[in-house]
Amino acid sequence: MVKVKDSTIETGRWAFNAALGKVWVGRANREVWKGRQILQKKMMMAVEVKERGGPLRLVERKVPEPSPHQVRIQVEACGVCHGEVMAIEGHHPRAQYPRIPGHEVVGVIDALGTAVEGLALGQRVGVGWIAGPGEITGLTIDGGYAEYMVASVDALVRLESESDASLLAPLMCAGVTSFSALKHSIARPGDLVAVLGIGGLGHLALQFARRAGFHTVAVSRGSEKARLAEALGAHGYIDASREDPVKVLQEWGGARVILATAPSAKFISQVFEGLGKNGQLVTVIGGNEPLTLNPSQFLNGRRSIRGWTGGEAGDLQETIAFSRLTGISAMVERFPLSNAREAFARMMAADVRFRSVLTMT
Ligand SMILES: NC(=O)c1ccc[n+]([C@@H]2O[C@H](COP(=O)([O-])OP(=O)(O)OC[C@H]3O[C@@H](n4cnc5c(N)ncnc54)[C@H](OP(=O)(O)O)[C@@H]3O)[C@@H](O)[C@H]2O)c1
Repeated sequence: MVKVKDSTIETGRWAFNAALGKVWVGRANREVWKGRQILQKKMMMAVEVKERGGPLRLVERKVPEPSPHQVRIQVEACGVCHGEVMAIEGHHPRAQYPRIPGHEVVGVIDALGTAVEGLALGQRVGVGWIAGPGEITGLTIDGGYAEYMVASVDALVRLESESDASLLAPLMCAGVTSFSALKHSIARPGDLVAVLGIGGLGHLALQFARRAGFHTVAVSRGSEKARLAEALGAHGYIDASREDPVKVLQEWGGARVILATAPSAKFISQVFEGLGKNGQLVTVIGGNEPLTLNPSQFLNGRRSIRGWTGGEAGDLQETIAFSRLTGISAMVERFPLSNAREAFARMMAADVRFRSVLTMT
């Protein structure tokens, strides 16, 4: 562990951290370095939901203190995932309020809990959906729509500091979910894999599927995303508003795997028969809307269905390593924290290309 000397440093825009031997862009204030934390201002800006179904509001909050097995993170960027509806619209039984949403977080450790070892102040880290034992980021504990947040050390993935934080943030949930869902599916190189819904998860899934050697097909609504889907790696594009995806997929031999990221059980049910023999539907969407599939749709073609949830810190590490190895990057639109409401609305309208990301600097 890096030992940080007690020292006081007057900072302008630039600051020097003697312990880490690095120059970094600091805030225009007075920073005091202690052994286990960089003492920052007492208050921070955050975006919270005050009550179930309430709007996102920019508020001032006290900077949180880490408990013994937590670190505090100075947030650099936080992606805006569709899964946020559970906190913002209150669909999840464990959601508590007021709550700061956000579970695609990248930032820098600025305080260590008293029991934390092996991590240094200044280390860049990421946090996804799982915030630590039994906790969900941005749902049961506060998340990354804020200048600072705390997270359990078990939830952290170490990140290099050179990359753009806003491009790394979507990997923390959209990336790990789509990568792990494909990795643990029955698809093998050369198999036909259809990705349903080209948004935050879908645009990364297309890239993972292509780099993994699958015959990759995007299924979207409208012609507008065709060119971008191809640029992301799709060999084929099905516009479900003009053609029947089942018919097209069957003409191509039937999909080995359909990865359903479109948050519509009705749409997923309609495309299910696009699976080939022994094909597998992998669905990652939440919600209570029932799939409408009858038993014979499983018998004919011996089809199966499975669900998939994000991943833990080890899965995150794998996703980052694969992305780096194969040159995969999120495509993002950046918003200041104060525009979180617009960032969320654009995502919900499937209007953003392809992930809204809040940036704090
Ligand atoms: N299992 C997990 O661990 C996990 C993790 C993260 C997210 N999720 C879930 O995965 C889903 C996708 O999340 P995301 O962040 O990628 O969302 P997103 O960015 O909003 O993308 C979803 C895409 O689905 C399509 N779509 C949206 N509404 C639709 C509708 N009514 N009918 C048909 N297609 C529709 C749109 O693409 P087109 O315009 O191309 O049709 C949209 O861009 C959400 O349900 C989210 O809660 C699950």
